[in-house]
Amino acid sequence: LFAQACTFMLGVVNLRGLPPMDQPEIVFAGRSNVGKSSLVNALTGRNTLARTSNTPGRTQEINFFDLAGRLRLVDVPGYGFAQAPKAKVEAWTDLVFAYLRGRASLRLACLLIDARHGLKTVDDGAMEQLGRAAVPFMVVLTKADLVRPLELERIVGAVRGGLRNRIGALAEPVLTSSRKGQGIAELRAILATYAAA
Ligand code: GTP
Ligand code: MG
Repeated sequence: LFAQACTFMLGVVNLRGLPPMDQPEIVFAGRSNVGKSSLVNALTGRNTLARTSNTPGRTQEINFFDLAGRLRLVDVPGYGFAQAPKAKVEAWTDLVFAYLRGRASLRLACLLIDARHGLKTVDDGAMEQLGRAAVPFMVVLTKADLVRPLELERIVGAVRGGLRNRIGALAEPVLTSSRKGQGIAELRAILATYAAA
């Protein structure tokens, strides 16, 4: 599936702009700058499909990407700290959570967590929201290339512990590096199981 062409469909800034719910969707959510857009690029093998940046708050719309007419990848603005006005950040966060709650075609959320930092308080809030919206999720640890093996082990253990009593958490956290390609093939295989026939 991921060998096929992935194309940008549209970006939306309000709920009225959302496309019809006619394909299964997977959303990539997480704190600002955690590597959501970079992961979409790594998965699709297209370095410039989703816009990335060093500045937290780069993605400001809900962006839909079509994968071979069988699966939609959804890149959203991050939550938490961003280099943008507070009111704007609040508006994006509200939009993202409204999208999560109202989307029958949304099959899975990949909740991205920076492998250097592990779960933060704001991530608990995001997991609450996913639970309330009844969206199953899996944790994807990002930027594994920036963390030493022993430290990684510690963080993965802590994340597992943090997920133990969470409703809706599927499977094990997957360790990835968009920069080095680590975990990308594994994640593609998991996500492909959600595609339409
Ligand atoms: P917002 O849209 O602002 O919420 O950010 P985002 O979560 O989409 O993050 P983005 O993909 O724009 O990446 C943020 C920064 O992290 C960029 O400078 C990326 O190059 C860097 N980055 C992303 N993934 C990795 C990774 O696997 N390893 C390393 N070393 N850097 C990464
Ligand atoms: Mg982004």
